[in-house]
Amino acid sequence: MKTKIINENELNIACDLLKNDEVVALPTETVYGLGANALSANALQKIFIAKGRPSDNPLIVHISNFSDLDFLTSSIPKNAKLLMDKFWPGALTIIFPKSQNVPLEISRGLDTIAIRFPSHKTMLDVISNCGFPIAAPSANISGRPSTTCFEHVFDDLNGKVSGIVKGDISKIGLESTVIDLTRTPPVLLRPGGITLEQLRDVLGEVLVDTSINSKISDTKKVSSPGMKYRHYAPKAPLTVVSGNAFKCADYISKIATKNTGILAFDEFSFENSEVLHFGSINNQETQAQLLFAKLREFDNTNVTEILAMCPTCDGLGLATTNRLKKSAGFLETKIQGKVFGLTGRSGAGKSTVSKFFAKKGFKIIDCDKIYSNLLETSSLLIDELHKNFDDCFESGKLNRQKLSSIVFNNSQKLKLLNNITFKYIKQEVENIILSTDTDVILDAPLLFEANFDIYCDKIFGVIANEDTIISRLSLRDAEKNILNRLKNQKNNSFFIQSCDIIIENNSSLQALEDFILKGDFYEFIT
Ligand code: TXA
Ligand code: MG
Repeated sequence: MKTKIINENELNIACDLLKNDEVVALPTETVYGLGANALSANALQKIFIAKGRPSDNPLIVHISNFSDLDFLTSSIPKNAKLLMDKFWPGALTIIFPKSQNVPLEISRGLDTIAIRFPSHKTMLDVISNCGFPIAAPSANISGRPSTTCFEHVFDDLNGKVSGIVKGDISKIGLESTVIDLTRTPPVLLRPGGITLEQLRDVLGEVLVDTSINSKISDTKKVSSPGMKYRHYAPKAPLTVVSGNAFKCADYISKIATKNTGILAFDEFSFENSEVLHFGSINNQETQAQLLFAKLREFDNTNVTEILAMCPTCDGLGLATTNRLKKSAGFLETKIQGKVFGLTGRSGAGKSTVSKFFAKKGFKIIDCDKIYSNLLETSSLLIDELHKNFDDCFESGKLNRQKLSSIVFNNSQKLKLLNNITFKYIKQEVENIILSTDTDVILDAPLLFEANFDIYCDKIFGVIANEDTIISRLSLRDAEKNILNRLKNQKNNSFFIQSCDIIIENNSSLQALEDFILKGDFYEFIT
């Protein structure tokens, strides 16, 4: 079959093909779709043939108008209206009870129908111009990663479909979220562009289908047939490495060879392997957008295995993680031991918080203590300090008080001191993190300045009122020193902005413990 390459300014060609029961690949904001007339059995069969799609896997129907729903569904649940108001047009597919008008080839034996109102202008123009809804699975050969750019669609489907519309790169990069509203409470069948948190904000309780996090046997009856097939698979077998990113990177670097492909966050580099980066550790949008393209890129290399660093399961990370795990056939190496950063201004009460966590079995890494120990034990550190802060040494011994008063009045010197000390503390911190399997609290007043956030799964900021801080510090230092020290530290609003969780510590130990133990916080980290 000759495949026509169609530009976005000649959509009439695409529409003519579709009106003649042909299949045409089309760009959408999630991934490219392989479109056909959703009301024509003849056209729909061609989708299954072109993709090599298992015949029991139902299709999503795309509409360009809310009024198209009446024809396709037998009823519209109340909570569907809430979701449609909020997320349509967009990356959300809703399962409705289907009407009599829906061809067998769409729902494949189910009495429901999956419907999405996409936001991509090209797709919407094509649906409107055709005058019928368009069924479109992802435009890839079944089992391969979905396609997020024209070139990948061409690689998979050239010669197998009548046309490919050459659009832009898919903005989201992962397929739509699929939610089943025919059940109570609603069930998330596939995580995608709209997050579980966003759905729960609107609906309250939403269950998560078990197939999202674990392998389903081929014979088991599942709510969403597509969830049981091995999907998104690059040619080389893939293993997901999950857990603390820094520890995962260390594990990967120890077992990788020159034939290993590594899918990594931008912050981590590896020597002598084929490394592809898919975004910064904190950039879930980029990770989602690049995932499928990177999995395909490995196919152009000689790697014989792929190890992939795994995002966390919150927000868009749930969808990215789900696709990664599916492309691994749920083969996963879990690295034990989380790292929680603990930071805040002097006197905010970090040590009290860390004592609480020590009691609960966490291992505490106290960076202040490490620094004090290093001053006693590391001749390299002492030599470097001697070279740069000679006047703070009295008969060979460092006067810390004098050093403090110099650096707290001179930001250049403070920076120099930090550069020296961070380097030595970092080595100790890394050694401890990598040598323990238990959960760790990394207590570091200058956590962000030292770039120690890279080690942390989550970061707690401890804050207290300025008066409370000063009265606490005055028990251990002179007022002038206190004010000088605080002047050089970030303020509470910095911590509120930069940390994942804020712990307020203004009053008693009991109040602090109550605060930590209440709500989901403690459950979430243990
Ligand atoms: O973002 C997307 O949704 C893309 C673009 C092209 O719109 N489409 C897409 O389609 O990902 P597809 O066929 O690759 O995935 C559709 C998923 C499958 O897992 C299928 O089993 C499920 O939706 N599905 C379809 N109809 C269903 C139904 N009635 N009940 C439950 N699951 C259904
Ligand atoms: Mg698909």
